[in-house]
Amino acid sequence: MQDKMRKILDKNREKIQYGNLPTYIPELNKAKKDALGIYISMLDGTEVGAGDYEYKFTIQSISKVITLLIALEDRGPEYVFGKVGMEPTGDAFNSMMKLEIVRPSKPFNPMINAGAIAVTSMIKGNTQAERIKRIMDFFKLVTQNPDLRINESVYMSEKQTGDRNRAMAYFMKDVGIIETDVEESLDLYFKQCSIEVTCKDIARIGLFLSNDGKLQSTGEQLISPTYSRMAKAFMVTCGMYNASGEFAINVGIPAKSGVGGGIMAVAPGKMGIGVLGPSLDEKGNSIAGREVLKDFSDEFNLSIF
Ligand code: DON
Repeated sequence: MQDKMRKILDKNREKIQYGNLPTYIPELNKAKKDALGIYISMLDGTEVGAGDYEYKFTIQSISKVITLLIALEDRGPEYVFGKVGMEPTGDAFNSMMKLEIVRPSKPFNPMINAGAIAVTSMIKGNTQAERIKRIMDFFKLVTQNPDLRINESVYMSEKQTGDRNRAMAYFMKDVGIIETDVEESLDLYFKQCSIEVTCKDIARIGLFLSNDGKLQSTGEQLISPTYSRMAKAFMVTCGMYNASGEFAINVGIPAKSGVGGGIMAVAPGKMGIGVLGPSLDEKGNSIAGREVLKDFSDEFNLSIF
């Protein structure tokens, strides 16, 4: 297995040069551009890694899947989807164009920034510290990694440069999509994006979803299988932003990317897959990572379609 994984990484390494590190969050520009790694975590407990699977990066948009699950548990689908839609946009992940055009205003889905910020604002907690702790505890449980931390410099960088997110959040407060404190919701969102992970951590998130919301280690049903199914459906339709259709056709498994270069993917009933490649394509997805996943999915016949 590891041999095959290494071969897939080696085959796709040359794609790295055609992508770029993100510049809009300055701290993310410091990543190792040519890092490339993969880790799989299987339902029978087997775990295998190849390449730079221990390289640390920030989780970024992959966190949106987890906060969606928490919000669904906290508020129920009627409330969540009363405020955030279920449709792909065809626009960039940080686009605000449709927020005002659609009446009544509703971010199209929970995977774009506007929808994710709205979802994060729904997470319950008496204080901001309690909300952050709930999110971190959930991540630690699912990844089985008690050492997960927020990367403070990325967090500060996000906060300082997040004016577009801030603009969308204030607009959403104005039209009633966000009902809580805007700055606190944004702060929570910047923090969840800045959680530092490895391929192993995101593979374990994938494993959790492949196991329908049940922890593989203890057998505990942490979230409803229905919500896990919803999350996977969003990953298929919106997880790779405006490249989701192409990814579904070429790779065929639920996946979620982040601008830190990670892609978390799920082979339902089989395994979670974590891939890292910080060099991004023009849509914000790992340029070599998406090809690695394609080859891996082909090799092991993982497409769900
Ligand atoms: O809101 C942002 O811009 C980032 N913190 C997260 C966006 C992201 O990861 C988009 N992914 N491709």
